[in-house]
Amino acid sequence: MKGEQRQFKRTLVTTALPYANGPVHIGHLAGVYVPADTYVRYLRKKGEEVLMIGGSDEHGVPITLRARNEGISPQDVVDRYHKMIRQSFEDFGISFDVYSRTTSKIHYETSAEFFLSLYRKGEFIEKTTEQYYDEEAEQFLADRYITGICPRCGNPRAYGDQCEACGTSLSPTELIDPHSTISGSVPVLRKTKHWYLPLDKYEIFLKEWILEGHTEWKTNVFGQCKSWLDLGLQPRAVSRDLDWGIPVPLENAEGKVLYVWFDAPIGYISNTRELFPNDWEKWWKDEETRIIHFIGKDNIVFHCIIFPVMLKAEGSFNLPDNVPANEFLNLEGDKISTSRNWAVWLHEYLEELPGKQDVLRYVLTANAPETKDNDFTWKDFQARNNNELVAILGNFVNRAVVLTGKYFEGKVPQGGELTDYDKEMLVEMAGIRKAVEKLMDTFHFRDAQREAMNLARIGNKYLADTEPWKIAKTDMLRTATILNIALQIAANLSIVFEPFLPMSMERLNKILNISSFPWNRLGAADLLPAGHILGIPELLFEKIDDATIEIQVQKLLTLK
Ligand code: 2FM
Ligand code: ZN
Repeated sequence: MKGEQRQFKRTLVTTALPYANGPVHIGHLAGVYVPADTYVRYLRKKGEEVLMIGGSDEHGVPITLRARNEGISPQDVVDRYHKMIRQSFEDFGISFDVYSRTTSKIHYETSAEFFLSLYRKGEFIEKTTEQYYDEEAEQFLADRYITGICPRCGNPRAYGDQCEACGTSLSPTELIDPHSTISGSVPVLRKTKHWYLPLDKYEIFLKEWILEGHTEWKTNVFGQCKSWLDLGLQPRAVSRDLDWGIPVPLENAEGKVLYVWFDAPIGYISNTRELFPNDWEKWWKDEETRIIHFIGKDNIVFHCIIFPVMLKAEGSFNLPDNVPANEFLNLEGDKISTSRNWAVWLHEYLEELPGKQDVLRYVLTANAPETKDNDFTWKDFQARNNNELVAILGNFVNRAVVLTGKYFEGKVPQGGELTDYDKEMLVEMAGIRKAVEKLMDTFHFRDAQREAMNLARIGNKYLADTEPWKIAKTDMLRTATILNIALQIAANLSIVFEPFLPMSMERLNKILNISSFPWNRLGAADLLPAGHILGIPELLFEKIDDATIEIQVQKLLTLK
């Protein structure tokens, strides 16, 4: 079905499962959860059938490393962070239909079934290779548990998978003078057997499916897939010698667990099953369902190549229709890093800037790393709040509502004849739905939000040009017409901004005394009937002063 646009009945949106080895920060929100939530809210508002899946990724070496460092069990680590992460998402209005975890019973079962299904079909290759083993700790060593001298730059603390000083990817046997980080001893090579997924066998299929069939994918995603496919694929091990993870469900596989990147994406399926034990299959197997994976760029190969091969090899699942991966968000010019604590943590943001979730959502969308890495700075955060949310959106709504209170006792006035300027204004407003839809449907949320803000900008200009506060001295009918139009614009803003600023739009709905309109009313000039009584005016956003920003900047400087 090359490049052909298909019609779908429902959409399954998955969001990368964050590792439960630390809290979540603004990079997570900007890259994955804000765009996904904006998209899902938009689809729901259009009345479409949509499901948003999330959860914590609770396996993998970073979790065992943290447990070891803190002297607690991996389960303690994931229990702590799963709770925190789930709370942060809830606080920021990320509207998951389910947020579960990969230590759930159903996930263990689903992953084991999936592995066995591939195993029985003969999809795996079994291979024995030599890997580093710590004789003192009596265990094989994951790449991250081995340190040594980087063969490229001489950094004495390079890891078995990567040197963080020069950025080179390494394999453990390349390290000079390797040591186990568990016991400090020198590891020895020992034979071990693992199961491999033969990605190379699916190269032709992948080339056709992606390079010919999905030319509409974002260029950053398509480009990364193309380079992987041009380089040629190798079989990938789907098991590890570790004591934390889902046991390989075979006899004679003691001490072997599924590789975290094998079980994590299956988590999307397990979580759907948890939500709909009897009806989950329609979300994964019905050809009228489309699957969209929201992820960051470091996850592209797993979602565009490895997981699709797993699904294809299993045979009964749909493949993703799109994977709108984002690039990275940096913080004040530096890469965000959990281990270096260089981040704005969501739980801390909320404590220090309470009630300002939508401000962060707005700034992260306005500055989203959709096509290239972008930078978050506190100065930009302040400027966007003060010059856009306060000065444009909040100011416009407030003026329209306050003037209506002043001249028409808070009731939507009946307007009179429209001038050419009024008509132009309404034509412009009528065009907004198509313009925003085109951008939302192609995952251009930054531009879509800009388009929404433009409506508020136009509204402000309309009031500035028509000056109803002056006209009111001589012509109440004309004043009524102007304010009627301004209030219709305000009601339209409540529709178009709802996917982006859900909490503020709930407040706007209260101010306008309306319940939320469906998306297809966007552009209409008769949302508020004459005589409708408005609610109590209040400011939607407030200015953030220099002192507040300075505290945040100083907080970061102490980490440098
Ligand atoms: O990169 C990460 O944070 C991974 N935990 C993402 C997993 S996404 C999915 F496959 F579950
Ligand atoms: Zn190096």
